[in-house]
Amino acid sequence: MSTPHIDAEASDFARVVLMPGDPRRATYIAENYLEDSRLITDVRNAVGYTGLYEGTEISIMPSGMGMPSAAIYITELYRSFDVETIIRIGTAGGFSPELELRDMVVASGCITNSRMPELLLGESEYDLTPTSSLLNAAVDLGHETGLNLHSGTIFTSDIFYEPDEGLNSRMIEDGVLCVEMETAALYALAEVEQKRALSLVTISDHLTSGAHLSPEERQSTLDEMISFSMKVAAKEAEVIG
Ligand code: HPA
Repeated sequence: MSTPHIDAEASDFARVVLMPGDPRRATYIAENYLEDSRLITDVRNAVGYTGLYEGTEISIMPSGMGMPSAAIYITELYRSFDVETIIRIGTAGGFSPELELRDMVVASGCITNSRMPELLLGESEYDLTPTSSLLNAAVDLGHETGLNLHSGTIFTSDIFYEPDEGLNSRMIEDGVLCVEMETAALYALAEVEQKRALSLVTISDHLTSGAHLSPEERQSTLDEMISFSMKVAAKEAEVIG
């Protein structure tokens, strides 16, 4: 059951997919966190894997950067591969001064400057939210594991090199925690396809202070998020059966 961008059988994917942005990160996760992992697709170097995490089958599929790329993979996974749940794991730029580099944010809501959700959902008023039971499970697991996990609204932007100099302060005023480029597509598509979704990001750079992680810090921070997301994914696989 191949699609234009994923060359695999429906049964090659687990029902729960972890979705980093970077394909090389997908390989890193498969090699370091999954047992018996196998490459299931590599169209355009978007390498997807399935393997076992503590006995539970989990797949990894990269989104690429930005909503148009992410939406292609998300739509095909939900529609054609019997995937029930997609958990994005990515990085974000922090707005809120309460956030520190390396902090992890679970997106309980999302706003965007993109028209994609409006076009997909067919309405101009909409809420972009994760699956509430999945959000709650992640927050509970965060507490149990003693993580400094923030939950709140994030901003999905179509623009990385933002020209609007007033944007940061407006976002802080509105209580928006951080910016990234994919979550709004995930939440809109989960709604359209009636599937499950959650987005988890770590703060890799700070937009008000200009601080950013060194490559070593980036790697260890990512390891923290990957370990946590694996636990969330395994719990989710148990819940959806
Ligand atoms: N902007 C958009 N996406 C990002 C950023 C950013 O500053 N940092 C990490 N992902």
